[in-house]
Amino acid sequence: MRAAELFRARFGGTPDGVWLAPGRANLMGEHTDYNDGYVLPFALGQAVTAAAARRAERQLTLCSRQEPAAAVQIALDGLAPGQVTGWAAYPAGVAWALEAAGYPVPGACIAIDSDLPAGAGLSSSAALECATALALTELAQTELALTELAQTELTLTELALPQSAGLTVPRRELAAIARRAENEFVGVPSGIMDQSASLLSQAGHALLLDCRSLDTSQVPFAPAAAGASLLLINTRAKHDLSDGEYGQRRAECEEAARRLGIPSLRSLTTPAEVDRLADPVLRRRARHVVTDNQRVLDVVALLSAPAGQHGPVDVYRDIGRLLTESHASLRDDFEVSWPEADATVEAALAAGAFGARMMGGGFGGSVLALMPAASAGRVRHAVTAAFARRAWTAPEFLDAVPSQSARRLTSLV
Ligand code: GLA
Repeated sequence: MRAAELFRARFGGTPDGVWLAPGRANLMGEHTDYNDGYVLPFALGQAVTAAAARRAERQLTLCSRQEPAAAVQIALDGLAPGQVTGWAAYPAGVAWALEAAGYPVPGACIAIDSDLPAGAGLSSSAALECATALALTELAQTELALTELAQTELTLTELALPQSAGLTVPRRELAAIARRAENEFVGVPSGIMDQSASLLSQAGHALLLDCRSLDTSQVPFAPAAAGASLLLINTRAKHDLSDGEYGQRRAECEEAARRLGIPSLRSLTTPAEVDRLADPVLRRRARHVVTDNQRVLDVVALLSAPAGQHGPVDVYRDIGRLLTESHASLRDDFEVSWPEADATVEAALAAGAFGARMMGGGFGGSVLALMPAASAGRVRHAVTAAFARRAWTAPEFLDAVPSQSARRLTSLV
């Protein structure tokens, strides 16, 4: 609720509501989302919170505890890509994309707080988009409900405002709107995984998302209950999706699909099919995508096997092996790993992890490592020592607990 405190300090008064949207980890399926493939992310306990209130003027006023500069003012009328830069482009882009999709956007004051490390590859940007999207759509609903109220003899209680003012934009659509904000307003060509994870996840589950049909299913995933630990290791190498490498990988995948004469790399079903590509770089990119898609399905099969078919330790050992295979594929075929990630994976495996891999877009950010709970201390120690030996900034460790998706934390005023 530090966002509500920030709201009071910066804007005075009480916010109409406080909304939370989590960051995400991705268990399997990297660089598969924009290839129409499969991903298996889950929402984290760490999140962005937004305390917001409607205001009469057609303006957004945004402030953030993590960006202590003056509040940013954004005029809603005539808002267009290119007008807002820096962190405020994400919430501004959401307002723009909501209006473009035909949803009303009220003027609002929004105070943002986050316990997600920025640039750690944990989707702090998507969390910021999703928290803003929930806040703006619910504030718009409140405004509509109040207008209705003014035209009736009902009291506020009879209208049951907090319930009737709930979110009415379907979450899948909201995810697409938030992604459009990132793609077209901010200018980052990312896929749909991060926003879907933040808006559609369930606690104790990973979210299987088919990025072609957009079908989802919840896959039970509770490593702690099976005596396993899932650690996120922030390598402190900053990652930035707008640096061009991400867009280049995406373009290479599209080119590979074009040369193969298929709508997207999702249409590949066996690694042998990539041999039809003469270009060795495109062949490696395509091989990563087809093998990582298969690894998503393999992890889902392991997690969904009837109890008793495999012991829980076997399941997690097998998932660990797939994680490490995915890392090798991202490092050697997709070429998006970075030295700190490779050293982290190596140290974690040597210290008894079931498996580990770099996570997210690459070139910086975090590693996901799976291990027996009893080895967690040893793994932390080994990775910290590996960083110290190379005189790198010490890594940061976060527990990755599959958590609930975005939601309102308070009743609406
Ligand atoms: C970033 C993007 C996602 C996805 C991953 C790589 O997190 O935002 O859409 O492409 O990289 O899997």
